[in-house]
Amino acid sequence: MRSILLAIGFAAVSSLTAHAAEGDDALNSRPITNAPLVIGHRGASGYRPEHTLASYELAIDLGADFVEPDLVSTRDGVLVARHENEIGGTTDVADHSEFAARRTTKTIDGNAVTGWFTEDFTLVELKTLRARERLPELRQRNTLYDDRYEIPTLDEVIALVKSKQHSLHRTIGLYPETKHPTYFRSIGLALETPLVRTLHRAGYRNARAPVFIQSFEVGNLRDLSRMTRLPLVQLIDAAGQPYDFTASGDPRTYADLVTPAGLREIGQYASGVGVAKNLIVPRAADGTLLAPTTLIDDAHAAGLVVHAWTFRNENSFLPLDFRVGDAASPVYPSLYGKAFDEYALFFGLGLDGAFSDNPDTAIAARAAIAR
Ligand code: G3P
Ligand code: CA
Repeated sequence: MRSILLAIGFAAVSSLTAHAAEGDDALNSRPITNAPLVIGHRGASGYRPEHTLASYELAIDLGADFVEPDLVSTRDGVLVARHENEIGGTTDVADHSEFAARRTTKTIDGNAVTGWFTEDFTLVELKTLRARERLPELRQRNTLYDDRYEIPTLDEVIALVKSKQHSLHRTIGLYPETKHPTYFRSIGLALETPLVRTLHRAGYRNARAPVFIQSFEVGNLRDLSRMTRLPLVQLIDAAGQPYDFTASGDPRTYADLVTPAGLREIGQYASGVGVAKNLIVPRAADGTLLAPTTLIDDAHAAGLVVHAWTFRNENSFLPLDFRVGDAASPVYPSLYGKAFDEYALFFGLGLDGAFSDNPDTAIAARAAIAR
């Protein structure tokens, strides 16, 4: 083990020296070999309002290998980073009287949603809004940063990544997700073409580029596999089915996708799967952990890497086994639990990458395991 670590250390130093002399194209074509990968989920959303440049920059500064922008479209077809197209929960839009009439109800992926929607705003209009913490009660400290940051475009996220690559002399990966692709296609704002155009133009072009494009839908990933050589990741939820299957009447569910046969089919168009972590280690009804499934081994047998979401430090998101404190206390949900134990469990099972709201914790857990 020690000789392996020394070799890794030597490679890291050599790589650092080489990176200093490299331009964007070289960095954009250099695979990230850290394992397991640490993916800054919506940036470092445990510490800053999600999907802001400040959140991504902090994730990078904390050492994340990749940053993850979820993507939706503006009315004028610009890709911006938001977890959903309804922006009432993560911006100050409700305080903008000039946009009050834009509040409406739409059906998104079969659900009635009321609020303000990115596709009803031009980029110029969206830029007048400011981001807010999604979970203010759980993450009160993050509200310190409310109303300070704009909604970033994909171009701005890429510019940040490139700037940080230069200043830190290391490759930083990009892990964009197409949100609601069937819906956006239905309103004439398909996400795939502008996404691929933007990535290719930025120098991310080949299968070795430090990029994973992810989607909960299947059809748009199959389309993307014909549009780009960039690696693709099939997202798989713990329940339900991809919305494009719902829309087309395809009865298959996410459970079907994680069978050995389903994983082999995913291998036809994707490089990996991004799964709800409960699919790897299920939880009982009381929140305690059950025995691991064979998903990681099955996916590896199909030639797929396995990334899982979402790792977060707070009790609220941890299995009962790793929570700490008095469950009756009002602060119990926001207390940090034994997050290191959760990472150790999943890394020990062979997980290839973790989406984390707290990238520094994930990196420390990875380092502890390497030791
Ligand atoms: O994309 C991986 C993970 O982020 C999926 O969940 O809902 O946070 O986008 P979500
Ligand atoms: Ca995501």
